Amino acid sequence: MARERIGIMGGSFNPVHERHIEMARGALEELKLDRILFMPTGNPPHKHDELADAEHRYEMTRLAVLDKPGLFTSRLELEREGVIYTVDTLTLLRKQHPNADLFFLIGEDTMADLLNWRKPDKVFTLCTFAVCCRSTSEPRTNPVYRQLVLRGAHLVFLTLPPDNVSSTEIRVSLAAGKEPEHLPPQVMEYIRIMGLYHVPQSPVGADQLYPKLRQALSEKRLVHSLLVADTARKLALRYHEDPERAELAGLLHDCAKCMPLTVQQAIAQKQRLLLDKEIVQSENLLHGYVGAAVAEESYGVTDPNVLAAIRCHTTGKVGMLPLDMILFLADKIEPSRRSYPALEEVRRLAEENLIDAMRYSLLSTLDYVRKQNRTPHPTTQRVVDWLNRLQNK
Ligand SMILES: [Fe+2]
Ligand SMILES: [Fe+2]
Repeated sequence: MARERIGIMGGSFNPVHERHIEMARGALEELKLDRILFMPTGNPPHKHDELADAEHRYEMTRLAVLDKPGLFTSRLELEREGVIYTVDTLTLLRKQHPNADLFFLIGEDTMADLLNWRKPDKVFTLCTFAVCCRSTSEPRTNPVYRQLVLRGAHLVFLTLPPDNVSSTEIRVSLAAGKEPEHLPPQVMEYIRIMGLYHVPQSPVGADQLYPKLRQALSEKRLVHSLLVADTARKLALRYHEDPERAELAGLLHDCAKCMPLTVQQAIAQKQRLLLDKEIVQSENLLHGYVGAAVAEESYGVTDPNVLAAIRCHTTGKVGMLPLDMILFLADKIEPSRRSYPALEEVRRLAEENLIDAMRYSLLSTLDYVRKQNRTPHPTTQRVVDWLNRLQNK
């Protein structure tokens, strides 16, 4: 059996950014690795202020990679106490993966420092170093390279584009109230929820809701919810609606989606929700109505506008308010949405006019359902008619 090839990317990931992901993807391809483990460092004995807690750095990294094939997060360094040396981490990894070749990704500056690591000769027997070069100069001409090879180190070089993003710059920019470009949007949303790096917490109290939501949703659904929250917030700012409300609605809109249909139906019955048979029997439709009840009951949401937006996010309703439309659309257009024929047009329209975007989105749903020889829910047509009347006024 061919040996597995595993890449290891250590770092504080404070916070993880798109450049880290690009580097990992580049290495995955160039070195033909089977997978790469992102391994955030634990909390050092003397943690400085700018370093977010290890659990937060781990969670941000996890959120950034979990929809990327071949990329994984490891808790190995998190779960050990005290000062952690790479030699110990590699020894443990070797034990866990006896039939794998390990490739440790490092920057060129780290290469110069390798001989100062703890037990370098042992380290050299455990892995190959994959050096990501920042400069354009030939790294093999570096005198350190010869020294390392003579000591038995195995090194390969990766031709990656120059590294022009740094976590430090991202933190500075976050603290200045900006939204850095190279931060994955789900990570940005997590930073807001937890109020990390001097970013004001939004929605207030969301850090208390997050662990519960994380448990209730599948990984994919969790990332989707963070992306809907971020998209809804942006739309709210665009249309002068309350961004925090939109964000909260986005975060919780699918809180019932991963429950089995029978559980959703039981909640609908217990809450005496007045719903027609079609909604009650459809997983796709029911979770909005039940989600509003769950958001109120289990997540303590009291804002009726937020609850109303969650309630109608699956079917829409006659008399939707801007916040309802914002959530409805954010759900349809968030950046991880798999492409569907109307997607780009709905995205474009959402930037221009909520009503046009709603109408286009609903019409495309009607079209799609009819093409599948199914009958659309009557609400969809009713909402389209209502939007037409609104526009003709
Ligand atoms: Fe949904
Ligand atoms: Fe959704």
